[in-house]
Amino acid sequence: MKTRTALVTGAAQGLGQEFAVALAGRGYRVAGLDLEPQPQTAARVRDYVELVGDAGDPGTVEKGLQRIIDECGALHVVVNNAGVYPAKPFEETTLEDWRRVMRVNLEAPFLVTRAALPYLRAAGWGRIVNIASAAVLTAPPTMVPYVASKMGLIGFTRSLAAAVASYGITVNAIAPSMVRTATAERTVGADGGFEQVRSGQAVERTQEPADLVSTLLYVVDEGSDFLTGQTLNVSGGSAYL
Ligand SMILES: NC(=O)c1ccc[n+]([C@@H]2O[C@H](COP(=O)([O-])OP(=O)(O)OC[C@H]3O[C@@H](n4cnc5c(N)ncnc54)[C@H](O)[C@@H]3O)[C@@H](O)[C@H]2O)c1
Repeated sequence: MKTRTALVTGAAQGLGQEFAVALAGRGYRVAGLDLEPQPQTAARVRDYVELVGDAGDPGTVEKGLQRIIDECGALHVVVNNAGVYPAKPFEETTLEDWRRVMRVNLEAPFLVTRAALPYLRAAGWGRIVNIASAAVLTAPPTMVPYVASKMGLIGFTRSLAAAVASYGITVNAIAPSMVRTATAERTVGADGGFEQVRSGQAVERTQEPADLVSTLLYVVDEGSDFLTGQTLNVSGGSAYL
């Protein structure tokens, strides 16, 4: 394969870092966009293009994409992974809480995808992968904005797939269960959260970031041209589409 380029948002840690490393292992030149610097990812990915900024800010996204093109010459894969998953009783949820979740989880994928599209079209081949969540199926009561945002992302995936299919670009979503990342351990996984989710899974262990890699690589594979508009539910049998 001629060297292709992938952009992963939220690549500083957690799933994003795992995806960046996996794509690099598959021969991709990888760029990451995160609010935070990404030294750990850079240490694991050769020739990593580190972009620090907000994926929900149009100017930052445009500039980031331009830098990728300047440094790598082209863009082929976009993984919209940056996301937030705060838990709070619905009645305490403010408009600011709602907007923050929508901005990161839904508006940022729109902005990044829209900015990337001319480059994917120019490449004549592309893969857009949106990281959703099996929470859209289990629907935890304390995560109403989150579930709404990820359902929105699934709708975005389906409709966008139809909009860009003629350019040789596929669009799919991956829906994990609760995954052991540092953020999840600190938040939703604390106080028995992991045990609770695990007890609802057919697979009797906690999901690790590495458990999502084979699905990502399948979705971006050269042979996956006919897989588009889909949400792949990789949740250990905890919820069914
Ligand atoms: N961990 C889980 O249990 C789990 C389960 C299902 C789905 N997901 C989804 O997977 C994705 C990654 O989750 P994670 O646990 O690895 O999260 P994480 O907190 O470990 O990593 C997310 C990264 O995104 C970055 N980020 C946040 N807002 C950003 C913004 N506006 N612009 C750029 N970067 C931003 C953060 O700085 C962070 O480095 C999220 O979309 C999440 O909703 C996670």
